[in-house]
Amino acid sequence: MRIKRLHFISGITISIFIALHLLNHLSSIFGIEYHIDLMDRLRLIYRNVWIETILLLAVLIQIFSGIKLFLSTRKKGVGFYRKLQIWSGLYLAFFLIIHVTAVLVGRYILDLDTNFYFGVAGLNTFPFNLFFIPYYSVAIIAFFGHVAAIHAQKMKKSIFGISVNHQSMIILCIGIFVSILVLYGLTNGFAGVEIPEEYNIMIGK
Ligand code: HEM
Repeated sequence: MRIKRLHFISGITISIFIALHLLNHLSSIFGIEYHIDLMDRLRLIYRNVWIETILLLAVLIQIFSGIKLFLSTRKKGVGFYRKLQIWSGLYLAFFLIIHVTAVLVGRYILDLDTNFYFGVAGLNTFPFNLFFIPYYSVAIIAFFGHVAAIHAQKMKKSIFGISVNHQSMIILCIGIFVSILVLYGLTNGFAGVEIPEEYNIMIGK
């Protein structure tokens, strides 16, 4: 029970960051400069030593508590939303381990500014994009899918005649839509982005 509560609290903490982070990525629809500008402003909040320490601790807690909950639960896959919760959670654990490690290695070992270009170098370069397109889009859908699954369990009431199951389906569909929009923005409207030389190491050059 205590682990479930811990998982919930770290989940809320990370979700606040993810909401801002995805808004930041969505803003690339208005251009690369806009994305970089907004990230510079958001960094004033989440790069604060205390806030970033709490965020990274929450990521660690989320991964470990999630895996522990998965291993200890008996009814692993009964019903669509239960299955969605487990599979999206497992993917998010995999994604967060790689993603956050990559960002920290980029920042502290490669000494790069982990800005827009760092995030999209692989996404805009063949053959790396064969990995990065599903890697990022499934992560965004998994985040919304995880929220949709929790909503299906916790919500008890219809809203405007929309059943709880349909509300969760709407959340999942919003996730699919957001992931298409984010990929559209991060690839310069699917036209591709010229990656500056200092990020060559990200794409094997
Ligand atoms: C389109 C997909 C995504 C891209 C291109 C991307 C890119 C980035 C970049 C460039 C950073 C470094 C930010 C900075 O230096 O200020 C970052 C940090 C981070 N991202 Fe993502 N991200 C994506 C999706 C996600 C998702 C879906 C999650 C969560 C499920 C996530 C979680 C994080 C976390 C926890 C950090 C570390 C924040 C920090 O301490 O600096 N990202 N991401």
